[in-house]
Amino acid sequence: MPTKVLLLGATGLLGFAIKNFAGFECLYSPTRKDLDLNYFRIIQEYLKLHNFDLIINCTGYNVVDEAESDYENCYYLNCLVPEFIAKTLFELNPKAKLIQFSSDYVFDGKNANGYLEDSPKSPISKYGLSKSIGEDLILKANPNSYIVRVSWLFGPGKSNFVDKIITKHKNSDKIVIVDDQFGKPTYTLDIAKSLKNVICNRPGIYHLPSEGVASWYELAKNALLKYDSNSEIQSCKTEDLNSFATRPKYSILINSKLPESPSYEVGLTDYITNYIQA
Ligand SMILES: NC(=O)c1ccc[n+]([C@@H]2O[C@H](COP(=O)([O-])OP(=O)(O)OC[C@H]3O[C@@H](n4cnc5c(N)ncnc54)[C@H](OP(=O)(O)O)[C@@H]3O)[C@@H](O)[C@H]2O)c1
Repeated sequence: MPTKVLLLGATGLLGFAIKNFAGFECLYSPTRKDLDLNYFRIIQEYLKLHNFDLIINCTGYNVVDEAESDYENCYYLNCLVPEFIAKTLFELNPKAKLIQFSSDYVFDGKNANGYLEDSPKSPISKYGLSKSIGEDLILKANPNSYIVRVSWLFGPGKSNFVDKIITKHKNSDKIVIVDDQFGKPTYTLDIAKSLKNVICNRPGIYHLPSEGVASWYELAKNALLKYDSNSEIQSCKTEDLNSFATRPKYSILINSKLPESPSYEVGLTDYITNYIQA
């Protein structure tokens, strides 16, 4: 097991779970203040100073709609920064490993059978494109890279779809949710608890979703039921939303390489029971 680990993005949704639940003992988790990724020189000096044997990158430009008009910044954070980290890490310590998170949005969501780790990519948004290019650049820059694709995250530490739905319900706001986009909602704690296992395998591309498929509408409905409310919510169609970015309709990540994660419903129960205030 790696002895000195750097976690980037610990203030984010996934980073929070990895910091607290992945079980790495010697974990450095600098905030943006300590290590601003906008400066390559600072990244390089930090990596040189500490000589990590594993870097877990949970940072990213993740605002899917904004990426359509702000692609330069999106490309910087999702492509150039991870490529630089991958390259620098390899130069400093060729045996060190890198975990980079990617997304189901590298696929177009038109395949009813879902997507394997080596399925051809076909992003339909700028965000998806940046994640796809980022994957390719990292794999080229560092042969010890693990690309871990995840989807539809929820969990403690930062606001997310599930807690937004429950907050809306508590405020008696009208809830209207799209019912024709399907994916695998994924509990961040399940990802965190599987990470040590991922790096026992060979470098490459992995899918780590929680199991079970849902639409956003079904996920919202399920979250409210587990919160102990059968309150009515309305459904709508993707066309009704007028979003800037196009989203995959059926982006199902198939995990064919790792032990299966628990179902998202188990994660939803844990999250709502233990982390959402009644
Ligand atoms: N959320 C999802 O549903 C989802 C789905 C599929 C894939 N993913 C992937 O999973 C990974 C983690 O996503 P997430 O939702 O946990 O991300 P997130 O909550 O948006 O967190 C992003 C992290 O990046 C940090 N960051 C951004 N710009 C930075 C900079 N210039 N310097 C230093 N730190 C910077 C943020 O720090 P601050 O707190 O200071 O802003 C934050 O800690 C990403 O690669 C994402 O593409 C997420």
